[in-house]
Amino acid sequence: MNLTFIGTGYVGVITAAVFADFGNQVFGLDIDKKRIKTLKKGKVPFYEPQVEEFLKKGLASGRLKFTNSYKESIPKSEVIFICVGTPQKESGEVNLDYVYKASKQIAPHLKDGTIIAVKSTVPPGATDQIKKIIKKITSKKFSLASCPEFLREGQAIEDTLHPSRIIIGAEDKKTIQVLLDLHKPINGKTIVCDIRSAQMVKYAANAYLATKVSFSNSIARICDKVDADAKLVMDGLGFDPRIGRQFLYPGLGFGGSCFPKDTAALSFLAKSVGYPLKIIDVAKEVNRKQIDYVYKKINRLAKGVKGKTIGILGLSFKPNTDDMREARSTLLIEKLQRNGAKIKAHDPVAMKNAKKILKKVTFTPNPYQTAKNSHLLVIVTEWNEFKKLDFKRIKKLMKTPIVVDGRNIYEPERIKRLGFTYEGIGRK
Ligand SMILES: NC(=O)c1ccc[n+]([C@@H]2O[C@H](COP(=O)([O-])OP(=O)(O)OC[C@H]3O[C@@H](n4cnc5c(N)ncnc54)[C@H](O)[C@@H]3O)[C@@H](O)[C@H]2O)c1
Repeated sequence: MNLTFIGTGYVGVITAAVFADFGNQVFGLDIDKKRIKTLKKGKVPFYEPQVEEFLKKGLASGRLKFTNSYKESIPKSEVIFICVGTPQKESGEVNLDYVYKASKQIAPHLKDGTIIAVKSTVPPGATDQIKKIIKKITSKKFSLASCPEFLREGQAIEDTLHPSRIIIGAEDKKTIQVLLDLHKPINGKTIVCDIRSAQMVKYAANAYLATKVSFSNSIARICDKVDADAKLVMDGLGFDPRIGRQFLYPGLGFGGSCFPKDTAALSFLAKSVGYPLKIIDVAKEVNRKQIDYVYKKINRLAKGVKGKTIGILGLSFKPNTDDMREARSTLLIEKLQRNGAKIKAHDPVAMKNAKKILKKVTFTPNPYQTAKNSHLLVIVTEWNEFKKLDFKRIKKLMKTPIVVDGRNIYEPERIKRLGFTYEGIGRK
């Protein structure tokens, strides 16, 4: 089948490369000239395990091509996937400008019978608007669908090959059948539904997961107060199959390119239909305050951060990615700097992107250089590299041996036994 993926960000590049691997003829299309040049050379413009291998294979087979031209790709495509960004407006509402602009650009080149499937996260109603935009420009027949994307950065290839579920929202039987056939090589449960339900699934899923994170952070804060151990409490909760262990990891809260903006968009949508989603608003508020909570811990243990050097381990919003969008590290570092702390930091892959955002930070080539002469070390992102550090060596390097484990990756007893002052999030 001939396909075009519009927008070659995380979602577009990864799904395009995987669908080419399944034997389809695929175009990855972007307005960003530099990005397309990079992709044509077989280089991935971001850090994501396994993608380069799929990209190179696709290019070598001739089944995967990249272009800046709608004219080149759209007339050849039977299915077009819209994968452009849907950021947040200041009001919280989703900004659909990129989706509508892409729709306008598709329209003049459409051939009869094309399916336009939206992978970008958009609210119910967005596809009606897309239909209007395209119909104004062309009389060609096309059908719309919603195929929301659930891949997780850091494990995106695995998630694309083996997703927890495939959601196909479409209006007519033929479109549903084409999309079902296209997804056949993928190993995952499939749900076929109407477009609006498909779009709601994505928002509901992210809102639920974000709420779960904030719930675990709230329970951990109580644990801190009543001298209970949040890790054991989360085990006790999470091993109940009705609850599940995932996302019950207290820490610095959620960030990234999806949860913050998608919860804001759902909250905005809920208010606009007259049913404010207080539960989501509270989850967001808990998440916002979690930075203050960890900051206060740091400030107390460092006996005031003014003039102190704080070492930060981990900058990306989660491990195995260099994505700094809404990373918790930025909020924490800015707060520490506002209060007079000097910052040293290390991240295995995100320092290049972090340098574009963070000012007056000393970036170091490894965690030991971060620890050197620091008064306190904070774990901000739970990279595997940080789980087995040589703490005897770190103790010798630090000015004062204090660790705030913002992701609960260490056993408190072990670190304390080595002579550190240690605090996790809700850990004894
Ligand atoms: N990143 C994720 O983990 C993830 C997971 C699931 C769903 N999503 C959703 O998928 C969508 C895309 O996310 P992303 O992280 O891949 O975005 P991204 O910001 O990484 O990439 C978007 C790309 O679209 C391109 N673009 C913008 N306008 C265009 C146009 N008119 N024509 C062609 N290209 C255009 C941009 O140049 C950019 O390369 C969003 O709605 C997001 O919420 C993202």
